[in-house]
Amino acid sequence: MSRPTYRIAPSILSADFARLGEEVRNVLAAGADWVHFDVMDNHYVPNLTFGPMVCQALKKHAVKPDGSPAPIDVHLMVQPVDALALEFARAGADIITFHPDASTHVDRTLQLIRGAGCQAGLVFNPAMPIDVLEWTIDQLDVILLMSVNPGFGGQSFIDSTLRKAEQVRRLIELSGRDVRLEIDGGIKADNIRRVADAGADTFVAGSAIFGKPDYRAVIEAMRQELAR
Ligand code: DX5
Ligand code: ZN
Repeated sequence: MSRPTYRIAPSILSADFARLGEEVRNVLAAGADWVHFDVMDNHYVPNLTFGPMVCQALKKHAVKPDGSPAPIDVHLMVQPVDALALEFARAGADIITFHPDASTHVDRTLQLIRGAGCQAGLVFNPAMPIDVLEWTIDQLDVILLMSVNPGFGGQSFIDSTLRKAEQVRRLIELSGRDVRLEIDGGIKADNIRRVADAGADTFVAGSAIFGKPDYRAVIEAMRQELAR
């Protein structure tokens, strides 16, 4: 199999919230591909972050050094899902992922997101089975596996995610579709290669990037590992 096009998606959950626009510009200037936007509602997860208005405000800052727009990857950790998903589509989200256990009608939510012109994805917590993929993979652009329990940045990578990633990669190959396999939680330069070997092609990293003074050095170290 040829080497996938890897994407690095810094999570602005670990950015300086008082300077979010600047943080988004800086991390894209440092070589990031996507902007990962963690939406928490203090109900589905025990934390509260930001909503569609902040997404809309950041849209003009989500620009790569060559002037092209960087995709905004909205990870919804909210329940219920549908109304907020539509608001994020209106606020300029490019990709919207949600947890199937947070939506009563997963197929309907996927249709809503795609109908609003966004790419759609499902997110699986570390202990969640992935059997719903059998019935949904034809509608997915992204499958996001949580490698920590959602709610907070800075947690340690849960190893069972690697086995789950291998399974999902096989399902993607069987489907014959172009679906991204994204992993979220505890990713650093020193484990990203293992995660890629398990089949991931898109990597969320919050504290590993925004917790360091030199974003470019971290992103380059990650890309070097991926190129090995
Ligand atoms: C957790 C979020 C993650 C988190 C990743 O609920 O979905 O995106 O910010 O942070 P790190 O990379 O610090 O584990
Ligand atoms: Zn996330």
